Amino acid sequence: MKNILFIVGSLRKDSFNRLLAKEAEKYLAGKAEITYLDYTDVPLLNQDIEYPAPAAVVQLRETVAKADGLWIFTPEYNFSYPGHLKNVLDWLSRPVVAYDFATPTVINSKKVALSGAGGQMATGKCREKLTELLTFIKADVMAAPQTGVILNAEAWTEGRMILTDDQRAALKEQADAFVKYLG
Ligand SMILES: Cc1cc2nc3c(=O)[nH]c(=O)nc-3n(C[C@H](O)[C@H](O)[C@H](O)COP(=O)(O)O)c2cc1C
Repeated sequence: MKNILFIVGSLRKDSFNRLLAKEAEKYLAGKAEITYLDYTDVPLLNQDIEYPAPAAVVQLRETVAKADGLWIFTPEYNFSYPGHLKNVLDWLSRPVVAYDFATPTVINSKKVALSGAGGQMATGKCREKLTELLTFIKADVMAAPQTGVILNAEAWTEGRMILTDDQRAALKEQADAFVKYLG
């Protein structure tokens, strides 16, 4: 069975994107093993501390290397991706050995699926820019299908995310497509 590493691009305890990931988990039951990336200890990238890599970064690279694919569930922040997600991807984009640009990084060729819950753009802008970034660092993004959820009114007023049947169906379709994409 393939193993998929879920990356939630929100640090918020009651994150809707985390709930979306939980929902996607259901559609992968029996088809893939799921683990969640914990990147709370990954420091902000500072080239002064890049080599040797901090322990949390070593761990991050090992976790990503072991995964057959990554599925990112992320909110959109100001028509883009959140800074902490960019930080994780920046670390993954750097050579393990200083100036060794010949050896592929762990994100190189890694298959990635994208989803997100947010406002009226359904995180479309975020996913567009994330695709550009991931492609630049040589990840293999599954262009379609992706799941973009426009949060319901209760999510904003009461903190309750209610998915429509169409949104659930889209997530299921994406789960099936990603398992196929992983081969
Ligand atoms: C700094 C910031 C910028 C935001 N910008 C956007 C945006 O551009 N588009 C959008 O749909 N939502 C935006 N939001 C609202 C988020 O969609 C909303 O807070 C959402 O609940 C965050 O996802 P989470 O529940 O997984 O934490 C923004 C929120 C923050 C904190």
